[in-house]
Amino acid sequence: MLQIDVVTLFPKMFDAVTQSGITGRACDNRVYQFLPWNPRDFAANAHRTIDDRPYGGGPGMVMMVEPLKQALLAAQQRQRSAGVRKPKVIYVSPQGPLLTHQKVMSLSQEEGLVFLAGRYEGVDERVIEGYVDEEISIGDYVLSGGELAVMVVMDSVIRQLPGVLGDEQSAQQDSFVNGLLDCPHYTRPEVFDGRAVPNVLMSGNHADIMRWRLMQSLGRTQQRREDLFKSREVSAEERQLLEQYRMEAQGAGK
Ligand code: ADE
Repeated sequence: MLQIDVVTLFPKMFDAVTQSGITGRACDNRVYQFLPWNPRDFAANAHRTIDDRPYGGGPGMVMMVEPLKQALLAAQQRQRSAGVRKPKVIYVSPQGPLLTHQKVMSLSQEEGLVFLAGRYEGVDERVIEGYVDEEISIGDYVLSGGELAVMVVMDSVIRQLPGVLGDEQSAQQDSFVNGLLDCPHYTRPEVFDGRAVPNVLMSGNHADIMRWRLMQSLGRTQQRREDLFKSREVSAEERQLLEQYRMEAQGAGK
């Protein structure tokens, strides 16, 4: 069972992940175990102070070293008691490398993850230097705190764990798995607002449907995220499909 601990000033926010949907069911089914740690419980004074003004001046507050260190150590200790050999400590911040599908897959192989969610202007740099294994950003924008970023990482990792998705294939068919964006999806009715579902999907010809879906994935990736092709070979068959996509898009006046 994957162990997930989070050091956070707002433990209740994580009910959103542990109590709803696919990640909620996975928690009930003990696919992973979740435990939050509040740094306030490790504060040294009666006021339970966990932040202080930044050296050098400037706006905002900085999270203090000691409560975070104690909370991180307690989380790691708990994981070791639960059998995790080497808990991986991750600080989410805009300064980390961007989260990718590849990173999600490697995190899903770990035995234990300990996340640190920062608030205010961030955490004292010495916490990162001394007690964090890696930093991860979920995008080039700033959130009010790390909690939502931790939940993004958690959700994307948990859905990759064995048995979490009902249909074993659906994680394999996600966007980015083959380095491409997902294809379009349709369900009833057959015609909506005068728009019909593409014929091939009604044909029952499985090979044609697979080909069409791959063509759509390729075409959309080229149109919307050409950068993804930089880290991926395009085979001769795929080039042909891209050509077909361009022809059909032209025909449709797109
Ligand atoms: N905390 C605040 N903004 C963040 C981001 N973009 N990614 C990860 N953690 C964050």
